Order: sequence, then structure tokens, then C-alpha cells
Amino acid sequence: MPTLSEMTHEERSALYDRTYAQYEAMKAKGLKLDMSRGKPGLEQLALSDEMLNMYIDPSETKVDGVEARNYGELMGLPACRRLFAELLGVKYEQVFVGGSASLELMYDVIAKAFTHGLLHSPEKWAKLDKVKFICPAPGYDRHFTICETFGIEMITVPLLEDGPDMDLVEELVKDPCVKGMWCVPKYSNPDGVVYSDETVYRIANLKPAAPDFLLMWDNAYCVHEFDGPFVPFANILEACRLAGNPDMVFEFASTSKITFPGAGVSCFCCSEDNMAYMKKLWNAQIISYDKLNQLRHVKFFGNAAGVLAHMKRHAAVLKPRFDIVLETLEAEIAPLGIASWHKPKGGYFVSLNVMEGCAKRVHALCREAGVVMTGAGATFPYKNDPKDSNLRIAPSFPPTDELTLAMQVLCLAIKLAALEKLQTID
Ligand SMILES: Cc1ncc(COP(=O)(O)O)c(C=O)c1O
Repeated sequence: MPTLSEMTHEERSALYDRTYAQYEAMKAKGLKLDMSRGKPGLEQLALSDEMLNMYIDPSETKVDGVEARNYGELMGLPACRRLFAELLGVKYEQVFVGGSASLELMYDVIAKAFTHGLLHSPEKWAKLDKVKFICPAPGYDRHFTICETFGIEMITVPLLEDGPDMDLVEELVKDPCVKGMWCVPKYSNPDGVVYSDETVYRIANLKPAAPDFLLMWDNAYCVHEFDGPFVPFANILEACRLAGNPDMVFEFASTSKITFPGAGVSCFCCSEDNMAYMKKLWNAQIISYDKLNQLRHVKFFGNAAGVLAHMKRHAAVLKPRFDIVLETLEAEIAPLGIASWHKPKGGYFVSLNVMEGCAKRVHALCREAGVVMTGAGATFPYKNDPKDSNLRIAPSFPPTDELTLAMQVLCLAIKLAALEKLQTID
């Protein structure tokens, strides 16, 4: 079969008519399908249902001398801190367990940089004319929203197969206004990229001009493989320490996509010096987080091995969904040569690059046919995808029959948009 660009004008016209008729037939079904957010599906949520009815005997609420039912221990239940320390391969002293959302902790760290300054800040960021952040893209839209809300200027850096374009990053950090960088080092959202050891090394060894450069290491998908064995990851805190940058990094993680999003447990990790500084600031805003939920998580998992075993159960639910997405794209789109996509082994997304200038059109066609996808451009700072090409597919939430239909609609939309583009060039 010829690719779309190899076809004659007439062949493309005929294909357009056929595809359009199929699209109209899909539209007539009055579909209402959602592939927009990376939310676990019902089957995944059910994997943690034991926690809903978990009985905690009053004799169990005092752990390591800490009463989980009462105020106290700002940094979290020691047993829960130990669990995260083991999972992330960091020291117990470096872990702060917070509430139910790591995004809130990320927001808070940046907010504190503005209101109080970080450990090595010569000045609160709020006093500065300009604060810039390096934003590898495609990336997580909510990171970019945090930047926007604080008026941080975002510098887009391409995310390559092995992580951010480090040649560019090393140049950019020479600017003292560049105060930070977002990283999702394992199964990045949305490309599913795992940073290589060399990239991690180069990041840890950065020589930023800003003494308070803030590496936002969002390890949201650290144990989230759905295909193949667990992939170990670097201890970024230790890598930064060895590089002479011990206080540059804050690492974040949560159980949002392990137990219940919005009702899980989150943490941040940083050097002990940073922790002492942050603890003082945090002490002004909360007495202590929900230690009963922390206790529930500890009881549910036991240890890191328990978490990994649980993730295998998630994988069994997720893998078939990713297979539907990848097999449909392979069958419908690959022969036409009009899009490329990543084949992730973990995380929550498939990152799709349609023909340049077509992502918005594909998104609109999907929407008209009742399929909701993350907005075109959302994966870039300022929602500005310079090529108008990237779309994020989130296969976890819809039931498999709905996902199959949604993918059919998406493929029709990809074809129509590409044909429309090529016919106007003709
Ligand atoms: C990269 C990344 N970080 C953070 C989050 C949100 O994490 P939390 O629920 O812990 O705030 C998500 C959710 O999709 C994500 O993709």
C-alpha cells in the first residue's frame, strides 16, 4: 500500500471520501468517550479497595511511638517515610510525607521560593524581575500551569529519546535568571521516556549560574511499568550530592496512581540541609498531615516489594489497553506514514505526533465525533506546540470497548486531517 504522500491526487480524493463516510457513520453513533486525563480506570481503583474497609485497631495506631490519630510528626508517620525511602532509594531523613497530592508539594516548594526564598537564595524570587524555568516538552501540562500562575517564563527544551536535550540545558543554566527545571525522569508524561544514566549524570552535574537553581524531579511514575520487569532508577539526591550540588534537587512522588488519586499519600525528598530549612517554613502552614491514611498505606503494602507486587496487578489491567492503542495505530496509521508515536513500557500515556499542522484539526474532529482528548498543544509551555503535531492519548480510564471505539475515531480523524493537508498542498 502506498503511503499518503505517494498516492496520486485521485487516490487521495477517493480515500478522503471513504474515510469521511466512515467518520460520519461514527459521528452518528452519538459517542461520548473520554481519553483526556491519565486517570486510573475502575478496575485499577478496585485493586486497592481493601483500603476502604481496612480495620485499624486502636492498639495499632501508635507506631514507632507516634500516635497516628493525633497531631504531630510534621514530616509524616515514620513507617510511611521508611516506605517511601525504600521505594525511592533515599535516606529516611530525606523524606517528607505530605498529603494526598505531590502536585501540591511541588506548588508549595515553588511558592516558598517566591515568598521566602530557597536555602541558597540571595533574594526571594518575588523580588526578581525575571524567573525562568527550563521545561522539557512534550511535558506535563500542570507543571506548566504552576509556572504560569507564578509568572515564571518557560523555556521549551526538546525532550529526546533519552531525556531533555542536555547540550541546550547546559547552555541555558548559564543564565542566572534560569532558576529551575522540570523533570519527569521515568516514563515521562506524555512520551514515556526514561532518562538515560548519562542524562541523569549530566543533570546532576549541571553548573547553574543561579545559586538557588531548583531541580524539580517529579518521579510520578517511578514504579509504573505495565510491560516488562521493574526498571531501577537513579537516586538523584545522591547523584547531585556526588556532583557537589546536594541542595539543588527536590524529588516528588505519590501513590496517586498506585492506590487512589486524590486520596493517596505524597512525598518530597531533599538533602538534610534543605529539609531543615523547609521544615521550618512548613511548620507555619500545617501541624501534621493525615497520618491515618499514611498508616493505611503502610499496612496495605508493608514494604517496597509490596508496592511492586501491587503494580504488577495494575500492569495486568493497563497492558491490554495500551495494546489496543498501539495495535490500532499500527494497523490503521503506520502504513500511511502520517504519524509517529512512542511505544512506552510504563506510565500513563501514548504520545502521538500527527502530521505537522494537524494536531488541532485532529482534536476538533475527535471532539465533533464525541471523543474527548487532552487539548492539542497542552503538552507544551503556553499550550504552544510549534509544530501543532503532538497529541496525548490516555488509555487508562475508558473501558476497553469504549477505548477501541475512541481509537477508531482518532485514526479516522488523523487520516482526514492529513488528507485535508495534502490536498491543499496539491
Ligand atoms: C508527571 C506527573 N506528576 C504529577 C502528577 C500528579 O500527581 P499527584 O496526584 O501526586 O498530585 C501527575 C498526574 O497525572 C503526573 O502525570
